Amino acid sequence: MYFKKIQVLKVESVNDEYFVLRIRDKELTQNIKPGQFFQIKDPCAVFPLLPRPFSVYEVEGDKLSFLIKKVGESTKHLSLLKEGHIIQLLGPLGNGFPLVSNKKVLIASGGIGYAPMTYLEQKLKEAGNEVWFYHGGRSSNDVFCEDVQNCTEDGSCGHVGLVTEHIEKCFDSIYIDVAYACGPEAMLKVLVGICAERNIPVYVSLERVMACGVGACYGCVIKIKENDSIVYKKVCKDGPVFDGAKVIWDE
Ligand code: FES
Repeated sequence: MYFKKIQVLKVESVNDEYFVLRIRDKELTQNIKPGQFFQIKDPCAVFPLLPRPFSVYEVEGDKLSFLIKKVGESTKHLSLLKEGHIIQLLGPLGNGFPLVSNKKVLIASGGIGYAPMTYLEQKLKEAGNEVWFYHGGRSSNDVFCEDVQNCTEDGSCGHVGLVTEHIEKCFDSIYIDVAYACGPEAMLKVLVGICAERNIPVYVSLERVMACGVGACYGCVIKIKENDSIVYKKVCKDGPVFDGAKVIWDE
């Protein structure tokens, strides 16, 4: 884990809701696992005081990027940074996705849950897996790549309907060994149910509001089934990736 101040290489707008923040650093790009994240902030900004967690999007040589959705002042501020601006990064943090090899694998993402999945797809393919990648969003604004099975609720891009509906059809025609998912909890909960019916193990990456990002503040706890009891786990330190079958979802 590193704590560094680094220059912004580029901020690229994807559309009015999303952007990609790019940096370059040899140390940071070594040994990053798909699904890990960094706490990022602009040390010169008076507000917000706390850094925000962002999943690693792409890793290429010494270049590292983050796909970010503008959801508040903090992300809006980052979207306006120029090349050469200094930002502060802490990471890589979290456990990341456990990788399998030579299997048939499903990747499912929803909205900004797409961010950690392209690097995961790359690593799974390098390990000899066959990958089916389904991504869902409300509209074409939430679609980032044409090379995956895109599903939009309004039908403006790809298949019409919820991504989980299309994944169910995929499961009916293809045998899948293991699934990986990141997205809204409602989507993850449905997907975990679909996987349970078919005995498919599924790893889910969860999002929580984080303060410290390193397990010190207990601000990101979730409930997990462990043996016959319920235990509290920290999304930042014990996760963000958990066995979907063990997660107790909020009502
Ligand atoms: Fe502080 Fe997870 S964010 S314990």
